[in-house]
Amino acid sequence: MLASKRILLIIGGGIAAYKSLDLIRRLRERGAEVTVVLTKAAEEFVTPLSVSALAGTKVYRDLFDLTDEAEMGHIQLSRSADLVVVAPATADLMGKMASGLANDLASTLLMATDTPVLLAPAMNVRMWQHPATQRNRATLAADGIAFFGPNDGDMACGEYGPGRMSEPLEILAAVEAHFAEGPLRGKRILVTSGPTHEPIDPVRYIANRSSGAQGTAVARALAELGAHVIFVTGPADVPPPAGVEVVPVQSAREMADAVQAALPVDGGVFAAAVADWRVVSASDRKLKKSKDGLPVLELAENPDILKTVSRMEQGRPGLVVGFAAETNDVIENATAKRLRKGCDWIVANDVSPATGIMGGAENAVILISDAGAEEWPRMSKSDVAAQLADRIAAKMSG
Ligand code: CTP
Repeated sequence: MLASKRILLIIGGGIAAYKSLDLIRRLRERGAEVTVVLTKAAEEFVTPLSVSALAGTKVYRDLFDLTDEAEMGHIQLSRSADLVVVAPATADLMGKMASGLANDLASTLLMATDTPVLLAPAMNVRMWQHPATQRNRATLAADGIAFFGPNDGDMACGEYGPGRMSEPLEILAAVEAHFAEGPLRGKRILVTSGPTHEPIDPVRYIANRSSGAQGTAVARALAELGAHVIFVTGPADVPPPAGVEVVPVQSAREMADAVQAALPVDGGVFAAAVADWRVVSASDRKLKKSKDGLPVLELAENPDILKTVSRMEQGRPGLVVGFAAETNDVIENATAKRLRKGCDWIVANDVSPATGIMGGAENAVILISDAGAEEWPRMSKSDVAAQLADRIAAKMSG
């Protein structure tokens, strides 16, 4: 699948560097030629010998290695790849890239390259969440640098949260998606999916019956057409599709943050059944029955993610598609919803229990745009997704 593709892999200095050894192996298994650059800090985590044994080639380490300059200058090295992958991309490397510093081989190559660059960040949670890192991420994304991850999880430093480098198979999927043929190749598309869980206390939450099946099918169909899909999913019943960047969330507010972090994108499909309300002050202890009466749950409205993105004044995605879950007057309600939210298209469906759509395998949708309402016959959710992805591809490439 990656036969004869030339990948320049830059390994930064972080504990996740050990995963990059597996990444080299998997890239080569698929036929890619992998050239590796190690930063000085990376050499504290993996050895040049193990890297070159796996890559089957010389490892590049130093900007001022004259032999390399004679054989292959750093400019040539940066241009002789089809894709540059930085994994792990440390806070330091991201900072250098965002501010245009070039004081070692890795940062110089990243400045000199005219090849697409994919970053797989890895760092401590606080470092990832630090405003400086988030500023750098936004700057780099606006410069056209693609990001994959980081994932949530337990970290080597003992903390939990976003900052773990994506797994080698996930990065491999992103690399394959980059080279995938298809009308959406090179497009970055955000898909929200699934329900959200709004905590009441540590063991209870408010939720809805969404299984995540339709959003998952849309993400899969878009990836099959070559898109880089960022899949922001609540706790769904179905597993996420392969070949997409998965961002798992629980609550509506987490989903809103994850969507903001994924911007800018070329398109967005908002298939999630976001809970409209959350409990104002979720208890950090399990609520107990009491003789004093029933607990009173004060609710607050959640941010409207679709509306926020649709109404962005700067950097609005070129195509924003919402879903409308209705139980009555479907076309009328969904038409009004499209205007209220400001999205381009809305995919309306009747989720009354009798239709069996919410949680079921089939869907009957009406696509509403400024051209009017178009009723599609009832079909499987994957067929709805495939047709919708085709329409999105036609619109985005037209
Ligand atoms: N949506 C969103 N954020 C919210 C609520 C909804 O992004 N807080 C998105 C959904 O993903 C969907 C669209 O808005 O694409 C419509 O969702 P729906 O639940 O049908 O509508 P509501 O906004 O909840 O409106 P209402 O309660 O009046 O039906």
